[in-house]
Amino acid sequence: MKSRLAAAAPWWRPTAGNLLAIRGGRPLVGTYPISGAKNAALPLMVSALLTPHLVTLRNVPANLDVAMLAALLQRLGCEMHWSTRGGDLSLTLSADRVHPGRIDADLVTRMRASVLLLGVLLARCGEARLPMPGGDAIGLRAIDFHISGLQTMGAVVTLEGGLISATAPAGLRGADIMLPQPSVGATENLLLAAVLADGTTTIRNAAREPEIADLAACLIAMGARVSGLGTHMLTVSGGAALSGAVHDVMPDRIEFGTLASAAAMTDGELMLPHGRLDLLGSAADSFAAAGVDIVKAEGGILARRGGSGLRGIDVTTQPFPGFATDLQAPTMALLTVAAGASAISETIFEQRFRHVDELRKMGADIAVHGRTARVRGVERLRGAAVTCTDVRAAAALVLGGLAASGDTLLDGLDHLDRGYDRMAEKLAACGAALARTGRE
Ligand code: EPU
Repeated sequence: MKSRLAAAAPWWRPTAGNLLAIRGGRPLVGTYPISGAKNAALPLMVSALLTPHLVTLRNVPANLDVAMLAALLQRLGCEMHWSTRGGDLSLTLSADRVHPGRIDADLVTRMRASVLLLGVLLARCGEARLPMPGGDAIGLRAIDFHISGLQTMGAVVTLEGGLISATAPAGLRGADIMLPQPSVGATENLLLAAVLADGTTTIRNAAREPEIADLAACLIAMGARVSGLGTHMLTVSGGAALSGAVHDVMPDRIEFGTLASAAAMTDGELMLPHGRLDLLGSAADSFAAAGVDIVKAEGGILARRGGSGLRGIDVTTQPFPGFATDLQAPTMALLTVAAGASAISETIFEQRFRHVDELRKMGADIAVHGRTARVRGVERLRGAAVTCTDVRAAAALVLGGLAASGDTLLDGLDHLDRGYDRMAEKLAACGAALARTGRE
């Protein structure tokens, strides 16, 4: 896989060492620039397949998921040109010709966002064949909403032996689609497909995550006609000839919330340039209630522990603007050292508590009852050898390691690399004592 990634994303350097050693107990102090959002960059990259013209994305996060998607798109015929300016990564994609048959099955099964190829390839080429997408093992993660939406738009879809085959011999047509629940991926897939479909598509009960409005904004810049951004109903007048576009990827709200928690947990103070409080939704209030101070300051947003210390809170994950499921694991890490008790309920994914056992190894007091984790704050976590099981679990364990006494050794670093742009490097610049170690 390494050579495919190097060809598509030359900046990707699998950092030496498969373990991350963290010596805990140091306050994080300094500036931690918030990168472009992973979950915005991935659908934006896929959207470039809709047009033969150049699409330039600025502020692309340098993470493994982006590198893997670049390799997937390159195989499909998309040319990539990367550049850096002032530390920011820009990507220009050119999909003059698309070869829908050239699917890299291995990469598709490594990432969730690959499912978006279904809508885009159907819309552009009239056919798509791909394995079931992979991604974090955090629940069932069905794709029935994606498939039934595309079927309503005229696609013929069959599922056999783990392979999805879809065709739209007469092209896709606009349709009125009601999503059973506001799925982020299904909303994006149908939005992407609808842009080239014939006629008007309405997506009802659409997800409202800010990454979707970011995708729609880029599509509009390409000449697509989309309305209802940020609401539960998106309307797309399809069929417009698309041009290219230049688009800035929105800042990563999950990285922002995670680093604000890290500042508070370690009793440090972090300036978080590009962080946006408005993108946190109700998590902004939850952090305030837990004693994480996030205030506007010159040069960005400042995050630190409030004067009266960290306090337990109750959190229930919900679609945006509710508390983001992607912040659940890092927030649990925060609450393991907050005074009193907390209850964390996960309503989006069925198996998103895999970090609990690992945090327990670090001395956290957590009991799981069904989909609720009850956390009793302890004075201090202690370093341990732990394994990252998914992207956000990895971030939670890094936070635990930074705040713990003693040494923590993290395994399963691909998960961290998939979701975060040079996290270890950026933390080291803020005073964290950590290093990659172990095998290549
Ligand atoms: N669902 C179905 N059928 C479908 C689609 C979804 O039953 O056809 C269910 C899922 O199983 C889940 C719920 O609906 O229980 C919500 O899933 P959604 O489709 O909204 O999630 P996703 O598109 O698979 C994206 C992010 C996730 C993030 C969720 C929720 C990307 C690439 N992934 O996943 O991000 O947790 O939305 O906000 O955008 C992460 O970055 O670590 C991550 C997992």
